[in-house]
Amino acid sequence: MILGANKVFVRRIGRELLLIGLAGMTLLSPAWAASAVPLPQLISSHGRYELKVDGKPYFILGAQVNNSSNYSATLPEVLPAIKDVDANTIVMPIAWQQIEPRPGRFDFSFLDRFLRQSRQHRVHAILLWFATWKNGAPNYCPSWVKLDNSRFPRVVDRKGRLVNSLSPLAKTTLDADRTAFAALMTHLKAVDPRHTVIMVQVENETGTYGSRRDYSAAASRLFNGPVPRRLVRALGLRPGTWTQVFGRHAADLFHAWNIARFVNKVAAAGKAVYPLPMYVNAALRGPFHHQPPRPYEYGGPTYNAIRVWKVAAPDINVIGPDIYMRSSRLYCKVLQQYHRFDNPLFVSETGNAPVYARYLFATLGHQGIGFSPFGIDYTGYSNYPLGARRIDAHTFAPLALEYRLLRPMDSLLASLSFEGRVYGVSEPDNRHSQFIRLGRWEAKVSYDMPMFGDSPYKRPRPLDGGAIIARLGPNEFLVTGVHARVSFALAQRHSNEFMIFNRVVQGTYRYGTWKFMRIWNGDETDWGLNFTSRPQVLHVHLATY
Ligand code: DGJ
Repeated sequence: MILGANKVFVRRIGRELLLIGLAGMTLLSPAWAASAVPLPQLISSHGRYELKVDGKPYFILGAQVNNSSNYSATLPEVLPAIKDVDANTIVMPIAWQQIEPRPGRFDFSFLDRFLRQSRQHRVHAILLWFATWKNGAPNYCPSWVKLDNSRFPRVVDRKGRLVNSLSPLAKTTLDADRTAFAALMTHLKAVDPRHTVIMVQVENETGTYGSRRDYSAAASRLFNGPVPRRLVRALGLRPGTWTQVFGRHAADLFHAWNIARFVNKVAAAGKAVYPLPMYVNAALRGPFHHQPPRPYEYGGPTYNAIRVWKVAAPDINVIGPDIYMRSSRLYCKVLQQYHRFDNPLFVSETGNAPVYARYLFATLGHQGIGFSPFGIDYTGYSNYPLGARRIDAHTFAPLALEYRLLRPMDSLLASLSFEGRVYGVSEPDNRHSQFIRLGRWEAKVSYDMPMFGDSPYKRPRPLDGGAIIARLGPNEFLVTGVHARVSFALAQRHSNEFMIFNRVVQGTYRYGTWKFMRIWNGDETDWGLNFTSRPQVLHVHLATY
């Protein structure tokens, strides 16, 4: 035991010395230092995904700031919130208007300050490139772009009216955007040799509200022509015009194809200088409403367009859903839709109201690589009714509880998840219990239970429960959660064999190392394993008698 602990200590000291050494070397030789800390990377195997940061598995416990918090003046109101929720990753916009106010004149002073302060707060960062599209519109473009319709044309709707969304078919817009993005990535590479920034979102909620596609003459000519061979081949369809191949979905998918190709070219220009993992986020469409299609943000990576996006944008590693649906039925459906063999699940945004925090557990259960609520800062803005009405430390308390619970073992969970060993569930809106099959065992997760006895509470309580179970061996499990009871039984009930807890050990993880605290028994196990609002982690050894 002691030897093991010493080894870990020596390894950590060694790593810290290495980092101090690297920091010194950085001044002399940034190129050498850049290659010494491994580049963040997304790896995949058998349809499962793992994000590696500093060479180790990483689960993003993210916190996205509000839209206009990307200025030095707001950092004092941002960083305390990140600390309060105990996020390991801060998600920050970098606006095109901010870095290139005049063509070719770049200003990265905010980014430099932000990186310094993130490092001081010991968090990693994700940057959001707010450029040609921010919620479909060009509002974050510099004035020399968004006010010049002839050089940077807007989408034209069916009736010939201008829409506040730039056309994905304009080469001038693409060239200006990718030049600015490449400049950003070049600067980032030079100033971030330790890879504080682990991933970059390219654009934000791309697409167009109010028109299914660009109806300009040039766009319509392309729309009436053949679907590119690459796309029909990848989808296994017969060649033809857009309408012949996709019928009534043709306009939406044509727009998606063009936007995805544009975004891919921006991402590729950035990766050519600095190949960080890159992703896009989706403004969702109702997950159950195929017929008749309701208006949505056309052309973005909504679930109906994911396959088109995958073919058009191979340099985009992840398509993340922005989930602002409070209902557990809708939320879990979206998790299913974006957890795919060809796509790692990353909840790129979700509401900051307490009711959303529970979905971190279901995200882990879907082999997610991260979870990142939106609007985590104290600048005073609230995006209610999407998120919380009132914002203070109390609002973020359920999220903070979960992050505090999971952060000490985030790397362990990411690696167990990559091996397919993690199961997770969130409290449903109208159900009292859920079942998870674990080999010969079955776990029951129930909510609304007191710690003693089997009668549920009468008074309704907030929806904030969830649990995760990781399979460490055939009869051994890591179990944790909040406001939930976890019980175990044999999946196949034999007449004369019954489950017994051999040992239920409570402990803590520090730097991935398990430390024993005590054994739970008696009241603490007689009614199942009850998780409350304390960060408690158990190793459970099951047996039969
Ligand atoms: C989704 C967008 O991606 C965010 O930037 C923000 O505008 C929210 N919607 C709404 O607060």
